[in-house]
Amino acid sequence: MSDKFSKILEPIKIGTVEIKNRIAMAPMGILGLTNPDGSLNKRGIDYYVERARGGTGLIITGVFKVENEIDAMISGTPLISPAALTPFAELAEAVHAFGSKIFVQLTIGFGRVGHPMMLRKQPVSASAIPNYWDPRVTCRELKTEEVEEIVKKAAEAAVICRMADIDGVEIHAVHEGYLLDQFTIAFFNRRTDKYGGDLMGRLRFPIEIVKAIKKAVGEDFPVALRFSVKSFIKDWNQGGLPGEDFVEKGRDVEEGLKAAKILEAAGYDAFDADGGSYDAWYWAHPPTYQEHGLYLPLIEKLKKVVKVPVIVAGRMELPELAEKVLEEGTADMIGIGRGLLADPYWVNKVEEDRPEDILPCTGCHDGCLGRIFLGRPLSCAVNPAVGRESDYRLEPANKPKNVMCIGGGVAGLEAARVAAIRGHKVTLYEKSNTLGGHLIEVSVPKFKEDYKRLLDWYKLQLKKLNVDIKLDTEVS
Ligand SMILES: Cc1cc2nc3c(=O)[nH]c(=O)nc-3n(C[C@H](O)[C@H](O)[C@H](O)COP(=O)(O)O)c2cc1C
Ligand code: SF4
Repeated sequence: MSDKFSKILEPIKIGTVEIKNRIAMAPMGILGLTNPDGSLNKRGIDYYVERARGGTGLIITGVFKVENEIDAMISGTPLISPAALTPFAELAEAVHAFGSKIFVQLTIGFGRVGHPMMLRKQPVSASAIPNYWDPRVTCRELKTEEVEEIVKKAAEAAVICRMADIDGVEIHAVHEGYLLDQFTIAFFNRRTDKYGGDLMGRLRFPIEIVKAIKKAVGEDFPVALRFSVKSFIKDWNQGGLPGEDFVEKGRDVEEGLKAAKILEAAGYDAFDADGGSYDAWYWAHPPTYQEHGLYLPLIEKLKKVVKVPVIVAGRMELPELAEKVLEEGTADMIGIGRGLLADPYWVNKVEEDRPEDILPCTGCHDGCLGRIFLGRPLSCAVNPAVGRESDYRLEPANKPKNVMCIGGGVAGLEAARVAAIRGHKVTLYEKSNTLGGHLIEVSVPKFKEDYKRLLDWYKLQLKKLNVDIKLDTEVS
């Protein structure tokens, strides 16, 4: 057990649920890991269980829709229906066997940000506003009765989760400009019924949801909220950049903090907080160029106004940074999204005091988010086993052989690593005097230091695996 990371390894409670450490898997959509009816398939179960096996205290699933007729998307979109019960029960049992807890993220819908490729009907929203992807398409304003129906569906979805022994739910989302957020932000919501108007009116929808869930499943069932403190919206489809002076058209920090207090009083048990929106994806989905811990200045403010636990993700996968943030009390839990796609064993490695063995996420988005919009299943540029945990598990070779890997670029490094893990005797030949190939020039700029981490990681792993490295050797 590591002393250096003692805060990360400390238990915490969300509502009545005790979590064994401070690491939550940040919610990430799981294209390709569901059945046609929207329930989790075997690959999806394996994917989450692998992160529990790796020591993660709290697994938060990616979005599951609470209904699919009003905000109507194509089949296969993750959906809570009676069919979701059995796979969720299997998942909960397996996650609990590793001492981890699991919350299911319930999405109220996509609304204006529903991708036309994934929609079955006209997109809906709080008001008749343009679709994000195709502004020529105008969203249909939801009727009051439809909003009430969605509240009921959210409660029904939570009942199914509780029946499956899921430990809690997270409502998606007063964040990133999704359907529920479209109701809370004045720029999108021009309604004149009870779900519009002043801040209280605009927050009525998320307030009714938490109250309906608690009524249906009990006060002791935790309900967290995905929450963006600030939207960073400059205008339709335009986001503000770090350090830029602009007028916020979405939720500003002042309103964000007011909203958080109201939502906490309504019954939410935790805030899984960040910043950004579809219009400012550079914030909501931080690329390599954003700082590690980019949301911390916002989270610090949020933490001062609420008493329930605050989870923060956003390139927080550097163990020293995570420990410092917890130690200083800036947040109560650390959300790790892509870092756990890259390395499901993040927590175990921290616990064993060998953080240098954590496979770094480069922040590239190439294998994960980038593939969603190509209609490809979830993957990762540095860990292709994501979502294929059973198929791609590395087993010892039946008959170890002498393996020659030619070229010390990233492909050669990975081939040598995998062959050595499988028990082969590996020699790696590189004609130049150093390993890394294109990783060398890629990792020069300061903002690409994660590529340098990746290269250092490969060098260390090959050393630990006793791969024989022949530099300055051309193979003919
Ligand atoms: C592939 C992918 C899918 C995501 N899907 C969701 C989602 O379903 N719900 C959600 O609240 N956030 C989603 N996010 C955002 C993450 O939860 C997280 O806030 C973001 O990736 C920043 O954290 P990280 O730097 O640790 O990845 C997704 C992110 C990625 C990369
Ligand atoms: S694809 Fe890139 S950004 Fe996504 S998890 Fe893998 S390394 Fe990180």
